[in-house]
Amino acid sequence: MELAGRTALLTGATGGLGRAIAKAMADRGAKLALSARKAEALEQLASELPGDGHRVLPSDLAEVGAAERLAAEAGEIDILVANAGLPAAGWLTDFTEEQVVRALRVNLEAPMLLARALFPGMIERGSATSSSSPRSRARRRARAARSTTRPSSACAASRSD
Ligand SMILES: NC(=O)c1ccc[n+]([C@@H]2O[C@H](COP(=O)([O-])OP(=O)(O)OC[C@H]3O[C@@H](n4cnc5c(N)ncnc54)[C@H](OP(=O)(O)O)[C@@H]3O)[C@@H](O)[C@H]2O)c1
Repeated sequence: MELAGRTALLTGATGGLGRAIAKAMADRGAKLALSARKAEALEQLASELPGDGHRVLPSDLAEVGAAERLAAEAGEIDILVANAGLPAAGWLTDFTEEQVVRALRVNLEAPMLLARALFPGMIERGSATSSSSPRSRARRRARAARSTTRPSSACAASRSD
């Protein structure tokens, strides 16, 4: 996938995998919209990445409405990496109700809501610049829809050129 000049929204950017993904994408020329809860850590990460035009968008994805607000703040995004996640291992019976709700919001609901909000714009911009046929556009839509149903996985979509 060509990343130069593309804008990517990366959640969980301050975590172990998030930092590695941010560095790998910035190395290949992507502009990053970095998100997690800790603004200071995001600013530090943005200042260390190669390239310019990186932004920080602090957000607590366990809050109701946060995913939709983040998508709106992010604006035009070519690639979504929904990587933020809470550790949700262990016995379900040991979880409080609040912990279950938070885990579902961050690990499942937020990736789906972000994808739902961002995919139409990605597909539209891809359609506008791609020379692909209506049939391949339909395949891209189907792929996008499928990826939103896979919890706790990174969802990505971008122009196919
Ligand atoms: N590491 C592995 O071996 C592995 C294997 C399989 C799957 N995964 C999955 O890959 C993802 C990243 O793993 P990791 O090892 O990098 O985890 P990590 O180091 O614990 O990082 C988690 C990231 O999510 C952010 N986050 C946590 N709660 C949040 C919330 N309420 N709102 C917004 N952001 C929040 C954290 O930043 P703040 O604390 O600043 O919010 C941090 O940036 C997770 O979804 C994990 O389940 C990891």
